[in-house]
Amino acid sequence: MELSKTAALISETEMYSARNYNPLPVVISQGEGSWVWDADGQKYLDMLSAYSALNHGHRHPKIVAALKEQADALTLTSRAFHNDKIGPFLRKLCQMAGYAKALPMNTGAEGVETAIKAARKWGLLHKRVPENQGEIIVCANNFHGRTTTIISFSSEEQYRYGFGPYTPGFRIIPFGDGKALEEAITENTVGFLVEPIQGEGGVIVPPEGYLREVRAITREHNVLLILDEIQTGLGRTGKLFAYEYEDARPDILILGKALGGGVYPVSAVLADDAVMGVFTPGDHGSTFGGNPLGAAVAARALEVIEEEGLVEQAFALGQYFTKRLAELNSPAVKEIRGKGLLIGVEIKEEYGVARVYCEKLMELGILCKETRKQVIRFAPPLVIARDEIDWAIERIAQVLT
Ligand SMILES: Cc1ncc(COP(=O)(O)O)c(C=O)c1O
Repeated sequence: MELSKTAALISETEMYSARNYNPLPVVISQGEGSWVWDADGQKYLDMLSAYSALNHGHRHPKIVAALKEQADALTLTSRAFHNDKIGPFLRKLCQMAGYAKALPMNTGAEGVETAIKAARKWGLLHKRVPENQGEIIVCANNFHGRTTTIISFSSEEQYRYGFGPYTPGFRIIPFGDGKALEEAITENTVGFLVEPIQGEGGVIVPPEGYLREVRAITREHNVLLILDEIQTGLGRTGKLFAYEYEDARPDILILGKALGGGVYPVSAVLADDAVMGVFTPGDHGSTFGGNPLGAAVAARALEVIEEEGLVEQAFALGQYFTKRLAELNSPAVKEIRGKGLLIGVEIKEEYGVARVYCEKLMELGILCKETRKQVIRFAPPLVIARDEIDWAIERIAQVLT
């Protein structure tokens, strides 16, 4: 019997790919806006958005045009030379986010590593913490990436097992607990690294007032507040940055994912001069960080967020989608939580695991992915239309009720 294109492509991938992923059995070969098509022509609504990297939707025409135009002019210089796109990109980024300086990298994990290095060196130079003694406090159930340093402070056994020895200098406290932060701070604490909403951890929203509280505590103790907004930033939660809900402007802001407009990996760390000033030539870098192709794409991606009102759209449609989900009154659902278009639906254990629901949704034409065992994450592109959400709700209703 002849294999479908999908089956043949999955079989080829499984033959040659390391087994570090367990994707749903769909092979995507085309995308436009909120929609994708598989290798056999089947159409799906993308409700994962590459973990929020596709906030602008697939192949946003303005961003693809910027990519093509730049590809015809210049793609890579390395930072050994200046290029004519990095300045305009960083200016736009700093002005939009309200920081003095930005340091461009490529992936989220590199952004987090950059923030860790900045905080440690700031501790040494400005807080007079003895060399190699700086401590960073992080939260249980965090997700900040997969490098050896970052997994050193993960509380997920699978992310760590077998990959030691681990990087020292991190202390884990419960998420959402301001008192625990206050108690964990010592004279050697240089930073507190936290996600405003834990995305991979199951779309966990901290208690109201938490970010405001940790902002006050870190300020009082001269500890840098480092917010990882790689997943929550750039409109996803219905604000440009999730910290705006509580006026908790961090000392270091880490961005990634959607900064690349869904077409190119771009991340960045933002801070004011006192913190960013710790870096001197040769301290840190990346061959591809700030390259003209990525810079042109990211600058356009930022403009599109403003031009198309994506933040306001995420706020309004997030409320609408959450309300429609709640109205399903599904007996299988334990909790619906999130902000804007970052929505977690937790399935009661007696109703099975989230993966099974994601597989059923896939059969009905909706792509989403479980996070942790019991949570379905719905995070569609911010360009999704209300009637596309209605279309999705009809199918989600079939699976959940
Ligand atoms: C909050 C957060 N931080 C960091 C990362 C790591 O980003 P990357 O996979 O680009 O290294 C992710 C990715 O899911 C994330 O959600």
